[in-house]
Amino acid sequence: MAETTPTADTSAPVMTDGEDGVRRRDFINIAAVSAFGVGGVATLVPLISQMAPSADVLAESSTELDTAGIEPGQAVKAIFRKQPLFVRRLTAEEIAEANAVDAASLRDPASLADITKEGHGDMLITMGVCTHLGCVPLGAAEGEVKGEFGGYFCPCHGSHYDTAGRIRKGPAPTNLEVPEYEFTSDTVVKVG
Ligand code: FES
Repeated sequence: MAETTPTADTSAPVMTDGEDGVRRRDFINIAAVSAFGVGGVATLVPLISQMAPSADVLAESSTELDTAGIEPGQAVKAIFRKQPLFVRRLTAEEIAEANAVDAASLRDPASLADITKEGHGDMLITMGVCTHLGCVPLGAAEGEVKGEFGGYFCPCHGSHYDTAGRIRKGPAPTNLEVPEYEFTSDTVVKVG
C-alpha cells in the first residue's frame, strides 16, 4: 500500500515573515492608532465643553425663589437645572426631631445646622432626587406620605428621609443633596 504524504493547502494565502507580512502588520497598527486618535478627539471636545460652561449658561442655571409664602410644615417643589428641588419650612417640632438625633450615628452624618444656613435653620432646601436611583421622593406636596421619619419617602425602593433630608432607612446611600444656595434677602433664596 502506497504511503501518502500530507501536503499544504496551496489555495489559502500564506502570511510570511517576509516583506508582505511586515507591511500588513504595519497597516494594522497604523489603522488602530488612527481609529483611536479620531475617537479620542471626538469624545474630548464635548467633555471639555461640559467641564467649562460659559458664564451665560451658569447664569441661566440658577433659580431664585421667594420663601415668604411658605408656611411652617409646608413644602414647595421647584425646578433647578431640570431637576426637582424641595423647599420646606420646618415646624418647631420637625426642627426638634432633627436635632434630637445624634448626627454621628447616621449613615451620612450631618446635623440640621450643617444642612441649613445660619439664621434660616427652618428652611430645608434639598434636591428632590432620591440618592439611591434617582426617583422623586414623596412628602413635598400636601397629603403625600412622608415616611417613618417625617421627612420624605421614596416609593421606588423604600428609602426614608428625616425632617432634615437625611437618609434614615432603606437603600439610599446618602442624604438628599443640598444644592449650592444663598439668601439674597430675608426671604429670597438664590439656588445655584
Ligand atoms: S430610587 Fe429611591 S429608594 Fe430607590
